[in-house]
Amino acid sequence: MNPRPKRTINAIGALSMALMLTPTAARALDADAAQALLKKSDCLKCHAVDKKKDGPSYKEVAAKYKGKADAEQKLYTHVTTSPKVKVDGKEEEHASVKTKDAAEIRNLVQWILSR
Ligand code: HEC
Repeated sequence: MNPRPKRTINAIGALSMALMLTPTAARALDADAAQALLKKSDCLKCHAVDKKKDGPSYKEVAAKYKGKADAEQKLYTHVTTSPKVKVDGKEEEHASVKTKDAAEIRNLVQWILSR
């Protein structure tokens, strides 16, 4: 018996599954875009995902806001309105993200909150 026809059918099945899943993946968090925006905005000078630098680690931020309904709004404001923060004991304006695209900013905030 030639097993090939069966394998072909399985391959088509796997392919159509992948195609069905694609729209979901596109709506999910875009980690690459989030990290690219952090880099472009110089956030990594003061923040890392899992260790404290001049600013808290993003894991720490995610833990602080865990379960808070207004977390996304709070962080969105934090990274777009240059609030005063203490860096090394000196008060200065916090950096803002280098984009005006709300979807891009929301993606970054959600990425930070899911660390
Ligand atoms: C000069 C250093 C510095 C840079 C650059 C910087 N941050 Fe911060 N960031 C801080 C400090 C310090 C805090 C802690 C502020 C506080 O808790 O009062 C902070 C806090 C935060 C928080 C937590 C806010 C909260 O409400 O707990 C987030 C989120 C954040 N930064 C994101 C960013 C992003 C995104 C960028 C890039 C656009 C960035 N930071 C660039 C120093 C920096």
